[in-house]
Amino acid sequence: MSCSLAPSETCVLVTGGAGFIGSHTTVELLERGYNVVVVDDLSNSSPVAIERIKEIVGADAAQNLTFYEENILDRAALTRIFDTHHPDRVIHFAGFKAVGESVAKPLEYYSNNIGSTLTLCDVMREHDCKSIIFSSSSTVYGDPDNPPVTEEDPKKPATNPYGWTKWMIEQMLMDLHTADPAWNVVLLRYFNPIGAHPSGLIGEDPKGIPNNLVPYVAQVAVGKREAVQVFGNDYPTPDGTGVRDYIHVVDLARGHVSALEWMNGRSEVEIFNLGTGTGSSVLDVIHAFEQACGHELPYKICPRRAGDIAANWCDASKAERMMGWKAQFDIADMCRDSWNWQSKNPDGFATAEA
Ligand code: UD1
Repeated sequence: MSCSLAPSETCVLVTGGAGFIGSHTTVELLERGYNVVVVDDLSNSSPVAIERIKEIVGADAAQNLTFYEENILDRAALTRIFDTHHPDRVIHFAGFKAVGESVAKPLEYYSNNIGSTLTLCDVMREHDCKSIIFSSSSTVYGDPDNPPVTEEDPKKPATNPYGWTKWMIEQMLMDLHTADPAWNVVLLRYFNPIGAHPSGLIGEDPKGIPNNLVPYVAQVAVGKREAVQVFGNDYPTPDGTGVRDYIHVVDLARGHVSALEWMNGRSEVEIFNLGTGTGSSVLDVIHAFEQACGHELPYKICPRRAGDIAANWCDASKAERMMGWKAQFDIADMCRDSWNWQSKNPDGFATAEA
């Protein structure tokens, strides 16, 4: 069984801690008194995020943060970091995440996402650190027959290499626990994270044209793009557009803190959905964002996007029942905070980098 530790005596290694979900989680961890070591190669994130995390949490808590610009595929670097800090727990966010790109570059996705997780787990084992929380995704449910999905619903074949990496890493971590029950594994299946820290200091900063709905809507709102493309209005949903379970990234980040508290002193494998349990359509999101930014947003109906599903939202009651975690923010809060971030940082972190 893993040791039970108070936050101030727990060192949490966060891979990908400068990214969108990683940076928000690092803030929540520091605010609760954890010691945090972030390892991020900054391939899809900015060093400014680390500075902003420190600004949000204040000087005292910021002293408990150490940042390494390293790629976790670099075994020697990772070993040095483990030798120095002896982390007690790992939260593993680092990975490539663009669905379309993964179809074009399967080898890169498999070797990066799977390879880095294998290296990470092996280095963890060598250092007798056997507690890991993994960033999984609702994508493992595929096109669900009957939403809301529960953790008992079957995993379905993924539709792209990105999805397969999530699927396979879940399996790898479960196999690890079977082989050595001292491993303590929490798989968190995220629904659609959006929003930003209410301070407006950190948020989602996609490179190039955003793939996901809300970053695209935010760029239309700020005048960087002309109109939102609505991918299909002939789905079997109330208004014909796709329905998803959007979750505020701060709620999601707090879900990781709850998972850390839950796993403290255990050696189990557990899966939790993290979502609000409510579905919103593409048009619902556009209209909520209009309320947040105070003006109308142009949109046009376009053909369906290949690989998209009609609807997916979750039953998040297991996380509430077992970890006492429940999403607090609604879609209006999410759009307000996305807009706050986007309007203060129209070019994301690039403004501060210049
Ligand atoms: C996608 C990934 C999912 C990943 C998640 C990360 C696919 C099939 N799934 O989820 O594996 O974990 O991102 O956040 O890509 N939409 C528009 N216009 C746009 C963009 C999106 O109408 O410009 C619609 C989509 O058709 C969908 C909804 O908005 O109905 C949400 O799309 P998106 O934000 O891309 O997330 P998912 O596709 O649900």
